[in-house]
Amino acid sequence: MRLPLGSLLALPLLASASPTPESGTRIALQKRARIMNADGTVNADALRKQLAYATAKTRRGFVAYEKNTGAKHPLDSAKGTTARRDTGSVPLADYSRELWYGQIAVGTPPQTYTVDFDTGSSDLFLPGPNCSANCAGHKVYDPARSTTAADAHRGFSLMYGDGSSVTGEQYSDTVSVAGLTATNQRLGAAKTYSAGFSTDAFPADGLLGLAYAHISSYAAPPVFASLVAQRAAAQPRFAFKLAADGAELFLGGADARLYTGAVAYAPVTHQGYWQVDVQSAAVNGTRAVGRLDAIVDTGTTLVVGDEVAVRALYAKIPGARDATLSVGMGFFTVPCDAIPTVGLTFAGTTFDISPAAFNLGRVSPGAPDCVGGIVAANQLSEFWIVGDVFLQNVYTVFDMGSNRVGFAHLS
Ligand SMILES: *[C@@H]1O[C@H](CO)[C@@H](O)[C@H](O)[C@H]1NC(C)=O
Ligand SMILES: *[C@@H]1O[C@H](CO)[C@@H](O)[C@H](O)[C@H]1NC(C)=O
Repeated sequence: MRLPLGSLLALPLLASASPTPESGTRIALQKRARIMNADGTVNADALRKQLAYATAKTRRGFVAYEKNTGAKHPLDSAKGTTARRDTGSVPLADYSRELWYGQIAVGTPPQTYTVDFDTGSSDLFLPGPNCSANCAGHKVYDPARSTTAADAHRGFSLMYGDGSSVTGEQYSDTVSVAGLTATNQRLGAAKTYSAGFSTDAFPADGLLGLAYAHISSYAAPPVFASLVAQRAAAQPRFAFKLAADGAELFLGGADARLYTGAVAYAPVTHQGYWQVDVQSAAVNGTRAVGRLDAIVDTGTTLVVGDEVAVRALYAKIPGARDATLSVGMGFFTVPCDAIPTVGLTFAGTTFDISPAAFNLGRVSPGAPDCVGGIVAANQLSEFWIVGDVFLQNVYTVFDMGSNRVGFAHLS
């Protein structure tokens, strides 16, 4: 499946940034989904690539963290070095990721681009004018055509799961998101895109990371940190609704129309990723797994966990099976006619993954088993990546002022 370029560039929905009573601004998001086939069966190839992408991205953040802080990231155990590299055998020409993207403006005069808003990384990059690999069809950022562009005289290289990289040169320029503007914002103009960012795999032009500067490969303030430091954002918070209808990123606060009840805030346990504790995971209300370290990542489709905890979770689901042979290492199935409700508890409040969100599709047409949205990564040490399978069920607030992540029920 290929998204025609025209449909990406003419997205009237994306431009709707408007002030609200809370004086934050909102930006509508588009979703690109490919993990379930039209007939309700699972796209196993896309899932395996998803898992490889998520684990590789996390490792990249650990490397940047260590470079920036001089200390090893506490979640970065040595496990990866001895991992059975099942996912290494997957041909990653196309990650087929689910992602959420919306519009930003860069440069003077401002040019608009679409970007994947990713809370699991911290850097902004776009295709540059000299991009020679996988940039065709994307809109190019040309610093020579922006009066506010400044060459940072530094390169960058971001490794992705297929062993290829996004590489290029760093610049600083004016960047606006939902009408909020940061000046002298560091960004990358790519000279190569890895295959996973070619237009057939990745509909947005670039990627905008929303985590802390600690994991920035540029070792520079990420866009949201700049908006806060330059007092462009009303409050040092942003929030996501990632549900299929009305997905939105809200900058400078939380959009009170989109959630009900109190926001349950979990403190960030370590700045870098949006890292919080999951107090427990439950199956149909029965506790299955105890405390977990987790990173909250809008740029990952699945919920990815360590093998021991994920096995313990599926052990509580009658009929659950290891799906290594049918889908890939780390995947499990559950009976399609008895999909459980898995709940994650943050800050004393349990939020459910709906059976519809948990179900990634039937193993094959007519098969009784469906693939579960919680997946084990043997290359990860003991922490979880909480991605869209969970996040589409809740309203999520990322609070950089108070260093906490809040969850609330969708209204
Ligand atoms: C692109 O290449 C030209 C010619 O080598 C060079 O002058 C320019 O600085 C490059 N631009 C970027 C953004 O890398
Ligand atoms: C969980 O609840 C669903 C829906 O009621 C049911 O089909 C399933 O068997 C239950 N599973 C467990 C493990 O209790």
